[in-house]
Amino acid sequence: NAEKVSFTLSVNGKKLRLSTDPRTTLLDLLREQLGLTGTKKGCDFGQCGACTVHVDGQRVLACLSFAVMQNGRKITTIEGLAKGDRLHPMQEAFIKHDGFQCGYCTPGQLMSAVSCLREGRANSEADIQEYMSGNLCRCGAYPNIVKAILDVKTGGQNA
Ligand code: FES
Ligand code: FES
Repeated sequence: NAEKVSFTLSVNGKKLRLSTDPRTTLLDLLREQLGLTGTKKGCDFGQCGACTVHVDGQRVLACLSFAVMQNGRKITTIEGLAKGDRLHPMQEAFIKHDGFQCGYCTPGQLMSAVSCLREGRANSEADIQEYMSGNLCRCGAYPNIVKAILDVKTGGQNA
């Protein structure tokens, strides 16, 4: 076993001092060490988007990143998206537009959807489809996910 490495992270606004095997992925750290199981492991190989989180506001595939590489950074997971008991507008839009079925891909879809808007990439259906193409959905909820993102983009006028 490799020696553990100490580092710090801010996770959903909480500063944490951590120590882990340097080979631990950010995904395993979040799920297994911190109990934040909202971030899903679909493929563990960078292919499905289920593990998408925000690192310093940018979307990142947590399965492709070693936890210790994020030393000092701010991580936001799906557990940190709502503010208190108020859902994030993107979460509300996914509910309103039936943007999920089994829900397994949904945390990753939501984190990507928020980035899509933030990065100004939600200007058309095609634009959204391209930006969201790294987030797979076995249930085929894609059309409703696009509707939800467009709805938030247009401030709820697209209902
Ligand atoms: Fe990370 Fe699939 S679990 S991309
Ligand atoms: Fe089932 Fe997307 S809602 S995988």
